[in-house]
Parts: sequence; C-alpha cells; structure tokens
Amino acid sequence: MLHSKITGVGMYVPETVVTNHDLSKMMDTSDEWIVERTGIKERRFFKEGEDTVSSMAAKAAAVALERAGKKAEDVDFIVFATLSSDYNFPGSGVLLQRKLPFRQIGAVDIRAQCSGFIYALSVADQYIRTGTYKTILVVGSEVQSNVFEKSDRGRSLAVIFGDGAGAVVLEATEESNKGILTTRLHSDGRFAEELYLEHPGSRRKERFNPDMMENGELLPYMNGKLVFVNALKYFPEVIREALADCNLKDSDIDLLIPHQANARITTAVQKEMKLPDEKVVSNIDRFGNTTAASIPIGLCEAWEQGRIKDGDLIAIAAFGSGFMWASALIRW
Ligand code: UT7
Repeated sequence: MLHSKITGVGMYVPETVVTNHDLSKMMDTSDEWIVERTGIKERRFFKEGEDTVSSMAAKAAAVALERAGKKAEDVDFIVFATLSSDYNFPGSGVLLQRKLPFRQIGAVDIRAQCSGFIYALSVADQYIRTGTYKTILVVGSEVQSNVFEKSDRGRSLAVIFGDGAGAVVLEATEESNKGILTTRLHSDGRFAEELYLEHPGSRRKERFNPDMMENGELLPYMNGKLVFVNALKYFPEVIREALADCNLKDSDIDLLIPHQANARITTAVQKEMKLPDEKVVSNIDRFGNTTAASIPIGLCEAWEQGRIKDGDLIAIAAFGSGFMWASALIRW
C-alpha cells in the first residue's frame, strides 16, 4: 500500500520585522491590545521588488528539496496553497514552476485560505496513494501586508496578519504506519461572507471602480468574534475526527501544529485537548497569522528545533475563511 511521507521541510520569511510599536505609529492601536487579544508581538512584511508569493515559495521549496535530497527535476507535481497570488490569474503554481528548474509538470493552486495547506496536502496525498505521482511539492505562501489598510479604519485586521512561506516535499513510501495517516476536510459556505474579500470579483458588471477604494470595499472583512467561536468548536472536533480514523486519542499526539490564527485560540484548543506546552507549536508572536503558510512554517521550525522525532504523531489543523476547516495526522 502506497502512502505519502514528508521527506523535506523549508520556510522563508521576509527580512523586514514590523513590531506592534511600529504599527501603533500608523494607526490607533497598541502593543498591549495586540498582545492581549492575539499574542502577536511582531510579523514580517514583504519587500516590493524582492519578495512575491511565488518567489518566497521558491525559496522555501529550495530548502525543502535540499533537505529531502531531491532536485527540482525530480518533482512530479506542484500543489500551491495561497489566497494572495502574485496575479489574479494565472495562479502561483505556474509562477513557482518557472522559478526553479522543474520539468513541465502540472501545477495547481488551492484556494482554501487558512486551511489551504492541509487541503493542498490532502490533494497531493491522493495523487501519491493512487500511484499517479511519486514526488510532490506542497507549498503555502502569502503576502498579506498589502491587502489591509494601515489606518484606524483597517486596524482590526492589519495587526493580525503577516507574510511568509513554507514548503514540504511529499514522497511515496511503502512503509506501513508512516507518513500521512489521514486527512479530514470540511466547509460550510453559509459563512462565506463572514471572512472574505469581495472585490475584484466577477459578480458585478464592473469588477472594480474608483468608489470601491474610497468606500473601503477593497479591504477584507472579518467577523472576528464569529470566526473565533467557530474556531474553538471546530479545531478540537476536526482533530478528533482524524484521531478516530486511526483509533487514536488526544494523548497520543506528540506535537500539535495548529494554524496560527490567534494565540488565544491555540491556548483554548490545547486546554480542551489537555496537551502540555511542549506538545503544541505556537510562533504567532513572531510571525502573526500567515494564513496558508502558517502550518508549514510551524512544521519547519519544529523540525529545525529538534521537536520532531522518528515515529512521532504530528497533528495539524486549521479553521478559517469559507468557513473551511481541516486536519491531518502524520506519523513521522
Ligand atoms: O486565520 C483566519 C481566521 N481568523 C481568526 O481566527 C480570527 C478570530 N478572531 C479573533 O482572533 C479576534 O476576534 C480578534 C483578534 C480579531 C479581535 O479580538 P476581539 O477580542 O474579538 O476584539 P473585538 O473585535 O471585539 O474588538 C474589541 C475592541 C473594539 O472596541 P469597542 O467596540 O469595544 O470600543 C474594537 O474597536 O477593540 C477595538 N479594536 C482595536 N483596538 C486597538 C479592534 N482592533 C483594534 C486594534 N487596536 N488593532
């Protein structure tokens, strides 16, 4: 039986560190408010002309490939999770394809926002399980710092998000009880407009007009409290669904890497699942919420810090815009 196994992890974050104090000079906010409500102390902002979603992905991918002992030519397929593609179209997958010496392989973009990386991983996992591809690059990369208005009007979202990228190399293995054990995906489109960016979309006759800028309609909208309460419900639920698939329980988890949405959400999930601090990854204090990139960045840091050992059970989970939520269990 074929399974897929992560054989290399990589990440890249832009150089520019933006602290809460920096933001408080641009808008009516404070370090105290941001730390208390979100746990974030600083985040990275991309540098125009140097970083793009696809270039950051290429840097993370190069590290992941090297650690997997693979060359770009060995990759059979690219699955790219992002909500902030370099262009409206084509997607970022093809832009990554031309940045490293890949063959003319397939490249698909996944639009599942905060759950993007897990959706991407599950897509890649199916191709490997069916024997279609042997080596797949899965990436999550985001530039968020330019979609929010750094003003009083935009403060509720501007302080939360950051830029960065993470990547993994997924390879076929016949080792039993190794690699991705299960993935669980969910959506509930009734809540699509509770965390969304309407424009430029194709619903209206004009995709955009100057008034939209003026009215703030080009800014994302988030019903923070509703997202928060749903995240608290669905994070444990979707992790336990995955555990049940494998006849495992909360205490079998060696490391939980939740999407970094808010430190308060991570702490609440940790408490609900009775996991000690050393079994939970939290790096939102340094990177903010990097949407589809947050899980592969967390995974990469944990691996670099020696927090992942052979045979460990890793749980990853996410909840966000859509609403979409997902989990996966990985036996390292
Ligand atoms: O990854 C995508 C999924 N997203 C999430 O999971 C986010 C989930 N939601 C959250 O993390 C929280 O709802 C937030 C961090 C977004 C907001 O925290 P909150 O405790 O729900 O605060 P709030 O929106 O209710 O705002 C409380 C107060 C308001 O003032 P009043 O009405 O009480 O006078 C806001 O206007 O804080 C004010 N406020 C701010 N103050 C200083 C909102 N943003 C800021 C700010 N600085 N940046």
